[in-house]
Amino acid sequence: MAGAGFGRQFSGLQGIKSIEDFELKDQRVFIRVDFNVPMEGKPGSLKITDDTRIRAALPTIRYALDKGAKVVLASHLGRPETKEDRPKYTLEPVAKRLGELIEGEVILVEEPRSDAPKALLPGLKGNQVIMLENVRFEPGEQKNDSKLANAIAAYTDIYINDAFGASHRAHSTIDALPRLIAKRGCGFLIKKEIECLGGLLEKPLKPFVAILGGAKVSDKIKVVDNLMDSIDTFLIGGAMAYTFMAARGLAVGKSRVEKDKLSFARELMERIEGRGKKILLPIDHVVANDFLAPSLIETVETIAEDRLGLDIGPKTRELYRKEIARAKMIFWNGPMGVFEKPEFAKGSFAVAEALAALSASGGQAIVGGGDSAAAAEASGFADKMTHISTGGGASLEYLEGAKLPGLEVLRMTRESATPSL
Ligand code: 3PG
Repeated sequence: MAGAGFGRQFSGLQGIKSIEDFELKDQRVFIRVDFNVPMEGKPGSLKITDDTRIRAALPTIRYALDKGAKVVLASHLGRPETKEDRPKYTLEPVAKRLGELIEGEVILVEEPRSDAPKALLPGLKGNQVIMLENVRFEPGEQKNDSKLANAIAAYTDIYINDAFGASHRAHSTIDALPRLIAKRGCGFLIKKEIECLGGLLEKPLKPFVAILGGAKVSDKIKVVDNLMDSIDTFLIGGAMAYTFMAARGLAVGKSRVEKDKLSFARELMERIEGRGKKILLPIDHVVANDFLAPSLIETVETIAEDRLGLDIGPKTRELYRKEIARAKMIFWNGPMGVFEKPEFAKGSFAVAEALAALSASGGQAIVGGGDSAAAAEASGFADKMTHISTGGGASLEYLEGAKLPGLEVLRMTRESATPSL
């Protein structure tokens, strides 16, 4: 990794090796993936409701298998706290799904610190992989523990991080472990994530439109700050729109407002407009009399005192669609309404459709993970977008300009990465 020393300023994929840079034949390749997928049901009959993150890691897994590697996969799932949480957070359903996708066998190993992986690895056939049980069952994982890292390093020749969604966590299988492995790099998913998200930071195409929604203004503050210079137009939706509307003195009824962010929202609108950029707020709304048990749902331009806004209305959808069609690059983060309920999903689905149309005509439509990724998926247009990030927190932190531990450790030289653990 010549020249990839610590202390030099790197961005994007600079200084990071790719899985393609290594000779994989008969090597024991540890691939950290992010299979933290949503599930429903009870322990024993858990069902994966969205396998996007598993499918997103397939190019790397298939590549490693095709090249003759002996593969160990590891992921976290959820945030288990006690032993009693284990049945709820087991990777069993994930192992089963992955086995179907690779048309092979996924051997789930309960104990990453046991001798089992080391013993199993040499005998793995072409269509077999080992998957470690949820690494967060190990108390050391979230403590970035060296014992866990050392135990895994004992059966790892090459370390590959393809867990973009977890790369903002300095955890043992993301940070401590690769410090111990000289041959380390990233997989194809991380490459794609950094190329697409990095494009927003480094090669913005104009006009550049940011569509921001979701519950909280506060979640987006740093991203907006970091991208402020490049973005030409901001389209605001979701619950955060009511904070902006309230800051403008517009009626919001019982809608959710972050009262402590009103002055921030006001200042932000002034800064955006002061720089000759546009910020558009919804001009009509789908409102209800109650969130949990609405008995009345209507479309209005002015929100009455006893109503709360739950989606953008048809005029706003059309207004935003036109802005999106004029753009060359879009970043979408946060749904436009409570898309999980069909009566409040039209705003998010209209945005997803407009983004799909933009991608089809050569524009760049990038969705920033988390809830907006789920909304894009639910809209049926997900596969038409330029890129949907598999990272929620990780994609936001990357766009905020933060250094992600899981990427930085791959850039270090062996010497600078040697742990003082
Ligand atoms: C995510 O879902 O954003 C990642 O898998 C990280 O999960 P965490 O927030 O529990 O660390």
